Amino acid sequence: MRIFDIITKKKHGQALTDAEIEYMINGFVKGEIADYQMSAMLMAIWFKGMNDHELSVLTQTMAKSGDMIDLSAIEGKKVDKHSTGGVGDKTTLIIAPIVAACGGKVAKMSGRGLGHTGGTIDKMEAIPGLRTALKQQEFFDIVNKIGVSVIGQTGNLAPADKKIYALRDVTATVDSIPLIASSIMSKKLAAGSDCILLDVKTGSGAFMKTLDDSIELAKKMVAIGEHAHKKTVALITDMDIPLGHAIGNSLEIIEVVNTLNGRGPKDLTEVCLQLAANMLYLIGKGNLEECRKMAQKAIDNGSAFEKFVSMVAAQGGDESVLRDTEKFAKAPYKKDVLAEQDGYIIKMNAEQCGEASVVLGAGRETKDSAIDFSAGIMILKKYGEAVKKGEKIAELYTSKEESLAPAEKMYKEAITIGAEKPAAIPLVFARVEVDKIEKY
Ligand code: URA
Repeated sequence: MRIFDIITKKKHGQALTDAEIEYMINGFVKGEIADYQMSAMLMAIWFKGMNDHELSVLTQTMAKSGDMIDLSAIEGKKVDKHSTGGVGDKTTLIIAPIVAACGGKVAKMSGRGLGHTGGTIDKMEAIPGLRTALKQQEFFDIVNKIGVSVIGQTGNLAPADKKIYALRDVTATVDSIPLIASSIMSKKLAAGSDCILLDVKTGSGAFMKTLDDSIELAKKMVAIGEHAHKKTVALITDMDIPLGHAIGNSLEIIEVVNTLNGRGPKDLTEVCLQLAANMLYLIGKGNLEECRKMAQKAIDNGSAFEKFVSMVAAQGGDESVLRDTEKFAKAPYKKDVLAEQDGYIIKMNAEQCGEASVVLGAGRETKDSAIDFSAGIMILKKYGEAVKKGEKIAELYTSKEESLAPAEKMYKEAITIGAEKPAAIPLVFARVEVDKIEKY
């Protein structure tokens, strides 16, 4: 077999055989296929795509290129969740404890922030003392005892994806539906859960900017999951505007605590209830309506919040900051952002809001920069709300005083105030199950 011939086949839009895909991925991981040849192949896939069978074989081969985590030491059905990334997306830390409070098992590996999007692991590390790198046995013990643990990705999960992603990043091949689907799902298959819920974000702050592309990506990922015998569902949720009111690590943990206590923002609470209901549905706890009621009850009776506290304590975190969020360290500098005219907020560019929070220190400017956990943005007026000239629409927090002026400028550029109240945006656009797409 020669990689030259395989590239030629894909260049002409022909389907690759299982053996050709395995040869290409395994050869690339071993260093026998050069970066320039893999780059040509990635570009051929970008233009010609892959059919569902090719995509499943590609994903499984990428998953098997490293550790395949065996979660059988954890009793019961394990359900994983993946978000394609967003601004203010703290849903994992709300829904994982809800699912655990309802008897589900969540053994989850999460990532750090990337560009303008935040990451669950960075948010968790805003809780003093909390460890996100656990030995496998400790991780399993916590999930068996409490029902939930969230840790950082371990060393050798889908190394083929790591190598391919690095090439995609520099060869303009990130924005390809088959390449995104195989990248995400290879890590999900390797992570070992029985069922997978995918939260595919759509809109200005997401990888997928249009609903059609988001549904296409969701369909591909669901097909890959089902082909690997994992029950998989995807929800397409909005990321045209930030989710909730808080952007930035400590601020988002405080919002998690409020939401788990039934005092969260309406949009965030609604999205979390739908996501949690789908996770419970996947592990067989009932139909969607019953599962939603179960999730709501876990918030109402405080059991979801107590699960979160128990998980944090088990991972070495200081639970007292969750019981009294005033104890979180405050940023030394604060600036109010004021509305420049009367009207309604008709646009909030989620990506630009995320970038403003990175400037304040809530994300990384370079891959080695340290995160300022207290930095971020509290959004006081969201899309659709009326504002008066001079009224406070947001608060900026930082430890770098000089970042306030540029962040304020960026935030103001992200917001458009218009005369007419805009139409409401749905929070969840669609639900994709194998052979079934429901548009809401
Ligand atoms: N997240 C991933 O893990 N991979 C992609 O290709 C895009 C988002």
